[in-house]
Amino acid sequence: MKKYQYQFPQGFLWGGAIAANQAEGAYLEDGKGLDISCGFAHGIKHDYDPVIDPSKFYPTHEAVDFYHRYREDLALMEEMNFKAFRTSINWSRIFPNGDDAEPNEAGLKFYDDLFDEMRKRGMEPVVTLSHYETPVHLVEKYGSWRSRKLIDFFLRYCKTVFTRYRGKVNYWLTFNELNNMRRMPGGAGGIFFEEGENHQQVVYQASHHMFVAHALAVKLCHEVCPEAKIGCMLSLSNTYPHTCDPNDVFETMELRRRSLFYGDVMIRGYYPNYIARVWKDEGVEVEMLPGDEEIIRQYTSDYLGFSYYRTSTHEYGQPFYGDTGGDQGTPNPYLESTPWGWQIDPVGLRYTLNELYDRYQIPLFVVENGLGQVDELGPDGKVHDDYRIDYIRRHVQALKEAVKDGVDVMGYTYWGPFDIVSAGTGEMKKRYGFVYVDRDNEGKGTLERSKKDSFEWYKKLLASNGEEL
Ligand code: BG6
Repeated sequence: MKKYQYQFPQGFLWGGAIAANQAEGAYLEDGKGLDISCGFAHGIKHDYDPVIDPSKFYPTHEAVDFYHRYREDLALMEEMNFKAFRTSINWSRIFPNGDDAEPNEAGLKFYDDLFDEMRKRGMEPVVTLSHYETPVHLVEKYGSWRSRKLIDFFLRYCKTVFTRYRGKVNYWLTFNELNNMRRMPGGAGGIFFEEGENHQQVVYQASHHMFVAHALAVKLCHEVCPEAKIGCMLSLSNTYPHTCDPNDVFETMELRRRSLFYGDVMIRGYYPNYIARVWKDEGVEVEMLPGDEEIIRQYTSDYLGFSYYRTSTHEYGQPFYGDTGGDQGTPNPYLESTPWGWQIDPVGLRYTLNELYDRYQIPLFVVENGLGQVDELGPDGKVHDDYRIDYIRRHVQALKEAVKDGVDVMGYTYWGPFDIVSAGTGEMKKRYGFVYVDRDNEGKGTLERSKKDSFEWYKKLLASNGEEL
């Protein structure tokens, strides 16, 4: 029996997380192709332009220029004692069209240098293979993950990067927040609907292809780099029943299952019984080839990476637009909200960690958690972000309680350790960082970096392995 764990284990992966498209910029440099993030002027929750409109400003095109400034940024992360740094490889830097026969050497070289720099500075790279970055050509020519062909293209890409970065990257994640296929299928899977389509049919068919691709990527990763671990990644902010009315309670469980379904398939390795009724009610018939279910059963995730930001509540009869709550539902009177309406709930993190570990019994990795706020520069030209320190302190306290509860947690990578473009809204105004980046919503600013108060605080937290709260 496992002994009582009263503190964070040695080797806990403390650090921060970003995504290529939200930080790198250089959107067409060194042979890169267009990926879907390039067509969202106001983030993935809003309209997508299949053709770039030259009269519009697209925030990811330059983002915060991490492509050219990563050495400076990683030096700051090293100063904060990071043990891990999560980013994605932008698929379209390696295969500009997604279906190219050969990879783009300049793209491969960029990530070689980036991962070398992380390792030199004592950080384990944690790498997402697709973080809202499906190559545009795959969307146009094949309808993205509607087509089974995407499985082969994705595996070609995986084989290329697993082989190239073997020994450098020991932690992989396949698709960022795959359960967002329901809420934001454009971002999560490059799915944009045609008129008259049954949306749920398209979403679940595409998800099936992604499940097979995920399982085959796990297989490939284990063959090519046996020392590496590969996980799935889900958005698992949580939802509570708004009252103890059994109807609220039951329906909230059903809502939560819309997300856990993705973990159930990629971790437990099979389609859960409850989905048959959901598909029947929604007129969904997923086509599977013989052998698909066996592949899914055989190659399951080594760990579960997930994002947790907030909770919301659900009342009987409310629509199930969201997969995780948060955007929908009824405000929780016990919790405060950010200016974007995200309700801050540290206990919810402990609850979620326990919920997930009870269900899956595999290591968990909090690969995203953080506070998006409006940061004002004080008269001294600095950001005094006590509110951010307070948010992290309370969440890390909850994380520690979960460790004491016996949950197996591998690490914690704070979202957006330096300010980056918001995925949801495309804003720079919604800042998460310990490091302020001088850039605004219209793309103005010097891009200069400066430390906020939270920088020193996080540095101490990491130096004490999570003890100095
Ligand atoms: C997660 C995404 O859902 O939330 C990130 O994986 C995103 O890409 C983060 O940035 C925070 O959301 P937002 O909209 O505040 O950037």
